[in-house]
Amino acid sequence: MALSKKDIVMQFEPKILALCCHYCAYAAADLAGAMRLEYPATVRVLRFPCTGKVEPSYLLKAFELGVDGVIVAGCLEGGCHFQEGNLRARRRVERVQTLMAEAGLEAERLEMFNLSSAEGTRFAEIVTEMTERLRRLGPSPLRSPGVAQSAAPTPLSPSEAAQGEAR
Ligand code: FES
Repeated sequence: MALSKKDIVMQFEPKILALCCHYCAYAAADLAGAMRLEYPATVRVLRFPCTGKVEPSYLLKAFELGVDGVIVAGCLEGGCHFQEGNLRARRRVERVQTLMAEAGLEAERLEMFNLSSAEGTRFAEIVTEMTERLRRLGPSPLRSPGVAQSAAPTPLSPSEAAQGEAR
């Protein structure tokens, strides 16, 4: 029996990379783990000292390597520990979204979020929201089977991600 489009959408497990700043978003991800909140195991978290350190080339490279979506998550506006790093990151994300749209890749695959270290629940919501969005969009057109197998992230809990930074 052939699968319906809805079945295919439900079975698609997107690969999401979350680039989180150490002070807020990463702490929120860790809190979500400590609170044992349930969210889709579709995300791999990478910790940055500040989202201001996220270069546009990192975002483009992630898509080139086969992820379906990228989250950039930093401190609340006005709360960046490096003053304006998250504002710089937002401008970079918007620039990359424009490039993606020009290249025919849905800009919604990339989004910047701001949250505090106390928002573990919000982190879980963000991952759930992005996962549902990417299920609707389907696999990235840049994702080839070979690339997806070798480069797509495997799900890690925030505490595993913390241990895995040296990997
Ligand atoms: Fe969190 Fe700059 S320290 S975004």
